[in-house]
Amino acid sequence: MLIDTYGRVATDLRVSLTDRCNLRCTYCMPEEGLQWLAKPDLLTDDEIVRLIRIAVTDLGIEEVRFTGGEPLLRPGLVGIVERVAALEKRPRMSLTTNGIGLERTAVALRDAGLDRVNVSLDTLRPDVFQTLTRRKRHEDVLRGLAAARAAGLTPVKVNSVLMPGLNDDEAPDLLAWAVENDYELRFIEQMPLDAQHGWKREGMITAGDILASLRTRFELTPEGQEERGSAPAERWLVDGGPHRVGVIASVTRPFCRACDRTRLTADGQVRTCLFATEETDLRAALRSDAGDEEVARIWKLAMWGKKAGSGLDDPSFLQPERPMSAIGG
Ligand code: 5AD
Ligand code: SF4
Repeated sequence: MLIDTYGRVATDLRVSLTDRCNLRCTYCMPEEGLQWLAKPDLLTDDEIVRLIRIAVTDLGIEEVRFTGGEPLLRPGLVGIVERVAALEKRPRMSLTTNGIGLERTAVALRDAGLDRVNVSLDTLRPDVFQTLTRRKRHEDVLRGLAAARAAGLTPVKVNSVLMPGLNDDEAPDLLAWAVENDYELRFIEQMPLDAQHGWKREGMITAGDILASLRTRFELTPEGQEERGSAPAERWLVDGGPHRVGVIASVTRPFCRACDRTRLTADGQVRTCLFATEETDLRAALRSDAGDEEVARIWKLAMWGKKAGSGLDDPSFLQPERPMSAIGG
């Protein structure tokens, strides 16, 4: 098991498959992109599958989420999903993507064994999309979403980040659209994980703001705490249900005490938290011919050092060196 000194057990593994992306969301990356990881530093497909196998067979991982950067940019993605689906203890598998290219790959991913997708989309307005992501790809995302739904990668979840002055008036429109299209919408509070270090607590759109805005048009009834479990999203029934909306209030209502996650970066570093300032190098172990047991031992030791919380509320909070795109959502 992966257990920490606070008694939390990790059963959910997030695997970043690449730090590259074809968008430049302002809350994530600068216009010019970033210095990408060099190919030899990335885990190979074999190394990734081996680490996931160790995680599910020896460490109690039950759920694997592929992230990026943009994971659809990883050439071997479908093959990786297929090999993980063939493991003796098959984990549930989902993918967090910006949706570009999903139109082409949704069916292959489902056939390979992927269960679900989370697609990031912050706005219904193409011009605002272009301002937010610095790319003209709104239509591609909408087509990717529809393809995922048609392929049965359901429930299709949509992640939205609201940015002051850009799309902060769109919450009710996004929800009406999600209900109509049978997507499950979740708003994520903007976190200090941008490469440019431009995040400011003042002015950020809080969960409270989002709920108030939604309630101008919808009746929201809270879903019970039991149903939340370790899920970061708090959920509400929309106009009595069955549709739901979620809010991930990482900043104003952190959920660290129920965290069940461990993370692996594309270059093979274990991170116990998005906001961790330390990493543990599994790639070095893999490449020095460590056996499965040794790799599992190092991973457990990393987990044992997991901090109580993100430290966001602490005045001494330091933003992690890696931006979101290099950690994985
Ligand atoms: N704050 C909140 N969410 C973010 N994402 C990327 N950067 C940030 C940030 N700084 C979101 C993306 C995607 C998910 C992986 O995380 O929009 O939905
Ligand atoms: Fe790409 Fe996701 Fe970062 Fe946007 S938030 S630039 S889609 S990695």
